[in-house]
Amino acid sequence: MILQETSSPASVWNNIEGIAYGGDYNPEQWPASVRLEDLELMQEAGVSFLSVGIFSWALLEPAEGTYHFAWLDEVMDNLAGIGVKVALATATAAPPAWLVRKHPEILPVTADGTVLGPGSRRHYTPSSAVYRRYATGITRVLAERYKDHPALALWHVDNELGCHVSEFYGEEDTAAFRAWLERRYGNIEALNAAWGTAFWSQHYGSFEEILPPAVAPSTLNPGQQLDFQRFNSWALMDYYRELVAVLREVTPGVPCTTNLMASSATKSMDYFDWAKDLDVIANDHYLVAADPERQIELAFSADLTRGIAGGDPWILMEHSTSAVNWQPRNQPKMPGEMLRNSLAHVARGADAVMFFQWRQSFAGSEKFHSAMVPHGGRDTRVWREVVDLGAALKRLAPVRGSRVESRVAIVFDYEAWWASEIDSKPSIDVKYLDLLRAFHRALFLRGVSVDVVHPSAILDGYDLVLVCTLYSVTDDAAANIAAAAAAGATVLVSYFSGIADKNDHVRLGGYPGAFRELLGVRVEEFHPLLAGTQLKLSDGAVSSVWSEHVHLAGADAVQTFTEYPLEGVPSLTRRPVGAGSAWYLATFPDRDGIESVVDRLLEESGVAAAAAADPGVELTRRRSDDGRTFLFAINHTRSSATVQASGAELLSGQAFDGTVPAGGVVVIAEG
Ligand code: GLA
Repeated sequence: MILQETSSPASVWNNIEGIAYGGDYNPEQWPASVRLEDLELMQEAGVSFLSVGIFSWALLEPAEGTYHFAWLDEVMDNLAGIGVKVALATATAAPPAWLVRKHPEILPVTADGTVLGPGSRRHYTPSSAVYRRYATGITRVLAERYKDHPALALWHVDNELGCHVSEFYGEEDTAAFRAWLERRYGNIEALNAAWGTAFWSQHYGSFEEILPPAVAPSTLNPGQQLDFQRFNSWALMDYYRELVAVLREVTPGVPCTTNLMASSATKSMDYFDWAKDLDVIANDHYLVAADPERQIELAFSADLTRGIAGGDPWILMEHSTSAVNWQPRNQPKMPGEMLRNSLAHVARGADAVMFFQWRQSFAGSEKFHSAMVPHGGRDTRVWREVVDLGAALKRLAPVRGSRVESRVAIVFDYEAWWASEIDSKPSIDVKYLDLLRAFHRALFLRGVSVDVVHPSAILDGYDLVLVCTLYSVTDDAAANIAAAAAAGATVLVSYFSGIADKNDHVRLGGYPGAFRELLGVRVEEFHPLLAGTQLKLSDGAVSSVWSEHVHLAGADAVQTFTEYPLEGVPSLTRRPVGAGSAWYLATFPDRDGIESVVDRLLEESGVAAAAAADPGVELTRRRSDDGRTFLFAINHTRSSATVQASGAELLSGQAFDGTVPAGGVVVIAEG
């Protein structure tokens, strides 16, 4: 028998029954009497999982080497007593005042040289050796103290790494950037080649000459900008790994994660890359109250999170019960919206529903942020909805561990996002997410599930693959996408895809270099549109943002531009490829135009909605290993809607009668 020398951490799910429920718990803000009441209320709400101690460092270690653990011991014991599991934080997301006073060099520095001071949170740079020494120190002390505690189920490492500040320009950051570049390129001439430094006399003689791309008279080297993005994303994860190394040593069986912020608003961290170091994917998501289609942005965030998780169940680590405090106007959630939001995340693969935070603060800058226990206490709509949600999640226990069914993939790449939005491109109106989200929206409205996947993901099993403004791409990823078409998928590639390689060097010989052959087109010149301009297309559709001079080279034109100087030039093409096809979209159609392209693609690929339903009903299906399926139907309208499905409705425990109440949710165990 071969004995394993290293043990891998247990799955967090082994420790939790059903769909986990809870939130951030900050008991240090409250007296003992309130903490006792918390235990009762948690049981009333059905809480099973809490993140504890995220911002507790200054109270746990009030002076260097002096520790006050009594309050946290009591909290952990009490939570264990009521069967609640804990994601215990490393407490490192806000360094204490004594540490800043002793070592101000840990503070982050911005591009213009401003030092970001204390009095808030996240005031450290991840490349500070001193900060890492202190952060690993408190992490080790916490791990040693609670390693055998029955409540401990997961390590919550730091908090939202890269939130508030995600680019670091201090001296230690510069040194770390140089070291990272040296490891990446080996020698300075390789860097010169990658950055194209023959341009504008930018050649470097040694790594010591390199600075972060801060402020300069004109546009900065794109290779330098791209590598600085990569470096910062790496530096945050490198810091995470150093904390995790301590946790692995002391508590090898306890899984570790950190809460991501995957959504349309977070660009700076390559979460597909980060996922390799997380034992379970956890995400935080906040609705933008002013967005009338906020449920679609939520769906996009959840689909992206599932993609980052490789399709595995994930933790919704934070969302809000009602209003937040950091948008310009903080509208509360509408009645029933919290249930719809929570179950939309579950519908899209979350097996844990958690909030910021358990009890609404009475002091501090987040006192007007909603929580599970509002300022008004139990006699409030929010509390009643929190209790109802706890009961609903209990009834969804059978869903735990099942996976979302999807035959459509949208390719998503943080590197392409970064590269495509570096300055000096053909048009500032090409924003990486715009077209991608327009397709996601059209599919959402049709009740078609979409996996948001990395370009290197295994694409077998997808019947429709969408590649939107994937400006930069590796040869391997381009081949992966082409192989999907050859194997039978309908693949659509849009304008401004496959233009550059990973060094942001243009692929020569006609655009879109990486996909020219697959698509059977050659683009000679870009014709981005002026602001506010629209184009008419041959089938009556209207588009904006982009047009270009496309030549057919094996593809057929499906639709053409109609206006000078591109009259008759293809705007949409199709080429049969192996068992599938490759479509090329050379412009950004308006909503109706996108929907009609999507309808054609769905028809060709044979992909249909998860069920037939009235408009306004969000649909997804989760399938368990043993073949049971669960259809989620979320009615975003204010009138009742019908869905054609049959089976037991898990939330009511009754047979599904074909109706989803206004603003309501049903989860049907089909069959
Ligand atoms: C983030 C943080 C939390 C809290 C919430 C408020 O998600 O992780 O500590 O500040 O925002 O929305």
